Amino acid sequence: MVAFDDKIPGRVKSSLAKAGNVVITSALPYANGEIHLGHITSTYLPADILARYLRSTGHRVLFLCGSDDYGTPILIKAEQENKKPEDYVKFWNERDQKDFKKLGISFDIFHKTSSEENIKLAQHFFDVLGRKGFIFKKTVSQPYCEYDKKFLPDRYVKGTCPYCNAEEQYSDGCEKCGRVFEPGEIKNEHCALCKRTPVRKKSEHCFLRLSAFSDELRDWLLTNNNLQADVKNYVLKWIDEGLKEWDITRDIPWGVPVPNENNKVFYGWFDNAIGYASTAIKYFGGAEKAKQFWNSSKIYHYIGKDIVYHHYLFMTAIRLITNEFKAPDYIPTRGYLLLQGKKFSKSRGWYISLEDFLNEFPPDYLRFYLSSITTYSQHDVNFDWLEFQAKINNELVANIGNFVNRTLTFINTKFGGVVPDPEDTLETRSAELENELVDKIKCIAVSVGKDIESNSHDRALKKILEFSSACNYYLQLEEPWKNKNNKTCLYVCANACRTLSILLAPFLPFASEKINNMLNVKTADWLSASELKIKPGHKINAAEILFNKVEDGSIRKRLEKLGGAKELLNIEDFQKLDIRIGKVTSAENVPKSEKLLKLMVDIGNETRQCIAGMAKFYKAQDLIGKNVVVVVNLKPVKFMGLESQCMMLAAEKDGSVVLLKPDKDVGTGALIR
Ligand code: MF3
Ligand code: ZN
Repeated sequence: MVAFDDKIPGRVKSSLAKAGNVVITSALPYANGEIHLGHITSTYLPADILARYLRSTGHRVLFLCGSDDYGTPILIKAEQENKKPEDYVKFWNERDQKDFKKLGISFDIFHKTSSEENIKLAQHFFDVLGRKGFIFKKTVSQPYCEYDKKFLPDRYVKGTCPYCNAEEQYSDGCEKCGRVFEPGEIKNEHCALCKRTPVRKKSEHCFLRLSAFSDELRDWLLTNNNLQADVKNYVLKWIDEGLKEWDITRDIPWGVPVPNENNKVFYGWFDNAIGYASTAIKYFGGAEKAKQFWNSSKIYHYIGKDIVYHHYLFMTAIRLITNEFKAPDYIPTRGYLLLQGKKFSKSRGWYISLEDFLNEFPPDYLRFYLSSITTYSQHDVNFDWLEFQAKINNELVANIGNFVNRTLTFINTKFGGVVPDPEDTLETRSAELENELVDKIKCIAVSVGKDIESNSHDRALKKILEFSSACNYYLQLEEPWKNKNNKTCLYVCANACRTLSILLAPFLPFASEKINNMLNVKTADWLSASELKIKPGHKINAAEILFNKVEDGSIRKRLEKLGGAKELLNIEDFQKLDIRIGKVTSAENVPKSEKLLKLMVDIGNETRQCIAGMAKFYKAQDLIGKNVVVVVNLKPVKFMGLESQCMMLAAEKDGSVVLLKPDKDVGTGALIR
């Protein structure tokens, strides 16, 4: 008989072990479209995992977010849909809240940047910045579209990035190289609405003297050891390259009004990051209480790597200068999400919509898969449908689900749903294994917790899976279904299920709740995962299937849908093809083949061999002397041992093939463009 005590061996102190206050934010989503899986990966999910974990370790957590309501992209979309911007952003704010709820993102508050609180705080900060000498006015010449009769700030203008030459970038920053630039810097500018080249009109704007704050920003970066080293390094480089003065006002009718100015609003990136603090004000019902909490908290801002500049420099500068809400402690920055190795693109159908995903799979599947593949770094993450299926089936279903179901089903069927008493066990078959597992139960919470605290959520999840494997192994070896007297095993396993449920709660809140219901236990705090709290005699509920397999068919459908997604090519891609007019100089059937013809094609400066699958549609001798269209720069391929050095173009209909030919004789070698 093994004795179990409730003592926990050497609880390791974790950095956040002392419960305190924490503010966690996720980048505020623009109120102009569905929440993107990429944002979930980089921002909402990791923040939620930390928030749930910290709450369960006794911290006071304020996890906040809200819609980013202002700015030109939103105004443009609202205009396109003939809606008032107010109505337009309200729709998306509500829709976002529904989506986040479905996904189990546990915000304590989801507010908005167009709120009273934010307008007031942004105007107040502007005032403070002005009094401290950081605001100046300058007349700038701004792009103005004579056709659309409006100034064209930011996203109203597109063009080529002056730094990396990426095309079709918005005039306020480059999505490719991450740099932010001033209006007017962009090359080849054109109106985003009508594509016309804008004229210049003068307008007086307010600027934030960011360069005057370079030293303070550099100090802050250098002394803050919680920031990711690689991100910090390139931000320091930006500072060394020289920070530009930042134009924080715009001539558009949608935004936070600039005090004492007519028809001017703040740039969206001035007021949106202020939204973090103003949302805290809303939550606490007043600025004083909010500041008290905020300034006694660790502050985490979760972001994607596209908005590093705004958070590390703009936002932090404003917070350091105004000195009312402390600057961030952590800005966890993660990379983009790719789909099957390629950038997501809604317009090209290379996309997974959250709604669509959640209509087919449980939210925990997305949370599990994304957390397990996302490292704490700026590296891009790849969503791969086959890997998704494999992970769900092998790790969730076969490992965790299997263990929980076997344990609970067995207690239900053999012990009437009552957790048996280990004292009744006559003979223990593997006390050693038992002790090992109990030791694991006692240590796992601290170990996983440390990984969550250090933002290595993928590693934390891996440890939980290893623990579950060990549980399965133990159950398999003990075979309580054979030896009904082995009650210790089921007692230990029931407790291991409880431990699993606590550990999984930040990652898979829905499954965790289900396990709790089956176990008939309440949600418990994190460290109690290391105790054997379920006592003999405890009555559990009926066991249900925890996770279902992802079937091949549903993955096949997903891949087929993507296969049908049309990719648009740049003209440069098309121009890589060397297509010419050729003339067939000889033709014969390939021996032993019903389909293939061997042709020699004169392409102007040389003659190429072409092996074409046309024997069913053309007689060899009928082709001699014909003009054809051939692609001549494909890699050679072999058919039945014969090299094909070019490809003839043909139209295909109902399985038959018709060669293309030029409308007039243009001679061999003529290029097709
Ligand atoms: N709406 C912005 C984006 O999606 C993020 C704003 S985060 C903020 O890129 F906090 F600064 F508002
Ligand atoms: Zn225009």
